[in-house]
Amino acid sequence: MFSTAFLDLPALQGASGTVTLPGSKSISNRVLLLSALCQGTTVVHDLLDSDDTRVMLAALRQLGCGVEVEGTTVTITGLGGQLKHHDAIEFFMGNAGTAMRPLTAALAVLGGDFTLKGVPRMHERPIGDLVDALRLLGCAIDYLGNDGFPPLHIGQPLLKVDAPIQVRGDVSSQFLTALLMALPLAAKTQDIVIEVVGELISKPYIDITLNLLARYGIAVKRDDWQRFTIPAGCSYQSPGTIHVEADASSASYFIALGAIAKGDGIRIQGVGADSIQGDIRFMDAATQMGAKITSGPNWLEINRGAWPLKGITLDCNHIPDAAMTLAVMALYADSPTTLRNIASWRVKETDRIVAMATECRKLGATVEEGPDWITVHPLPKGNWKAASIHTYDDHRVAMCFSLAAFNATQVPVRIEDPKCVAKTFPDYFEALFSVSRANTQDIPVICIDGPTASGKGTLASRVAQALGYHYLDSGALYRVTAYAALHAGLTLEAADEAGIADLARTLPVRFEGEAVWLGTEDVSDAIRTEQAGMNASKVSVFPAVRTALVALQHSFQRLPGLLADGRDMGTVIFPHAPLKVFLTASAAQRAERRHKQLISKGISTTLDSLRADLEARDARDSSRSVAPLKAAQDAYQLDNSSLSIEASVDHVLAWWQAKQPF
Ligand code: DC
Repeated sequence: MFSTAFLDLPALQGASGTVTLPGSKSISNRVLLLSALCQGTTVVHDLLDSDDTRVMLAALRQLGCGVEVEGTTVTITGLGGQLKHHDAIEFFMGNAGTAMRPLTAALAVLGGDFTLKGVPRMHERPIGDLVDALRLLGCAIDYLGNDGFPPLHIGQPLLKVDAPIQVRGDVSSQFLTALLMALPLAAKTQDIVIEVVGELISKPYIDITLNLLARYGIAVKRDDWQRFTIPAGCSYQSPGTIHVEADASSASYFIALGAIAKGDGIRIQGVGADSIQGDIRFMDAATQMGAKITSGPNWLEINRGAWPLKGITLDCNHIPDAAMTLAVMALYADSPTTLRNIASWRVKETDRIVAMATECRKLGATVEEGPDWITVHPLPKGNWKAASIHTYDDHRVAMCFSLAAFNATQVPVRIEDPKCVAKTFPDYFEALFSVSRANTQDIPVICIDGPTASGKGTLASRVAQALGYHYLDSGALYRVTAYAALHAGLTLEAADEAGIADLARTLPVRFEGEAVWLGTEDVSDAIRTEQAGMNASKVSVFPAVRTALVALQHSFQRLPGLLADGRDMGTVIFPHAPLKVFLTASAAQRAERRHKQLISKGISTTLDSLRADLEARDARDSSRSVAPLKAAQDAYQLDNSSLSIEASVDHVLAWWQAKQPF
């Protein structure tokens, strides 16, 4: 996951390949609650790991449910309709509507002394219609802030279920879902009838609920979309094992990708055209716009069809979430696209009509909007503007605007707060990058070099972290090469230059966080010794070895960008890098840092000898004939003798920002 302040997407050229999608948020949280309410143990496979499901799992643990997590498989031991803990519990719901609404209903029916609160945005999301319905049923619910909104307090109910319970259906279908999941707990001796007032929106989500209730032994009778009857005497039965389908709205980004990007097509694994999720109907909308889609039981395959895409006018009531993706596809169309019947966008994670209109305009588009509709005009080839997309803590805004990076003007796109995708798809950007292709010269590289102990490794890895870029520690490659050579029985002398170069050409080296692997061996510590540094220095003067490592170093230039650290990064390996930094510090300062470092490792040494060593090594490094230590002509010099690491990082980030079009 990218936890950076922003993520810059270079202009993307095309996409091909397979993505495996995470489990559906709607299905995951319903399944968790249903498993918690029933008797016995349920093994849930392919559960989504996201903010919303974590909120739900935490709440279930607070209630005394058995919860065992092993990767994406979670085993829930249900409460059997009886709460183990019900006194003075405070639940924090974050911004998870799929946890807040159904938990409110279930807890209100079961009764206790509960407080439910969330982030400030959660306290702006309406829940009044659900509370009204639950109060009709005899539930004791009080507002702790504004009437109609969380936070809430829940007490002991005096249930009366003889009259039909009415609930509004035109604000959020989650209210009805919440009642449908909670009321089987109260249908002991008589049927319970729920009547929907006003037109029911997002019917497909109710279908998911009914479908899953049936899996848990509750056969709800549905009359049109107006009356739902929960039969007397029903009780939750664990299905034993259940698989969560991949999220159909997450699939929308990759369906759109296949329709927009040049390439050999995109295959989506985890969800097919026969999904129980309404958002799968996004397929039809995308097809209307030009996508070519084929499908099997658990997969979809998408290719570009009509290009440019075709503008459409569509009632999106049945695909409210996925429809946001259409708004970005509209930028690639030949005529305007109007999405109608999307009033529910206004009460989601943010006001999505305002968000989509504002951000599309930043890209240069003309957009019109009304109370429950939006019209997006296409962006002609040369008219795209590089924009920094605000994401409003809304995962879908972040994901759908990433598709703007395929623009024909070839401008980059900045996505602010990329970690907001964690709500449903923590590794969304990794998945996008795994199938996307950019021109090599568009993938940014920042080079940082400098004398030994100048702190370039720390600086480079911190800058990489701040930007979400890959990190190449080229010194480590020479260290690993020397290590591998010695293990292969070679000497580090000129006689073995060709042998060492052969080895370097196919070096099975991998970087995983801080760890360095050579094949199956973790060599992180072995290559960090002083001796390993000396050995690296020896092999690094062989021209054949340097040449052998060029392709490997180039292979680190991957989306979304690279921080390259080492002496010839800006001069030889990435001469066209848009930013090169030459980091220096006085010999006295560097000696002091190295001294601290060695002392902390329990190695005793003196400052004076270290300083003498460093000065000698500087002289050797700058005068050696092969890859001498020298700054690239266009490098920015940074003397960090009196700078903290944070201040040095800020300098580099400011130089980088000054080169961006945002
Ligand atoms: O940065 P370091 O201490 O890990 O580097 C180990 C040795 O490799 C050092 O002697 C410099 C050499 N080196 C090189 O010649 N070219 C690079 N790009 C990086 C390191």
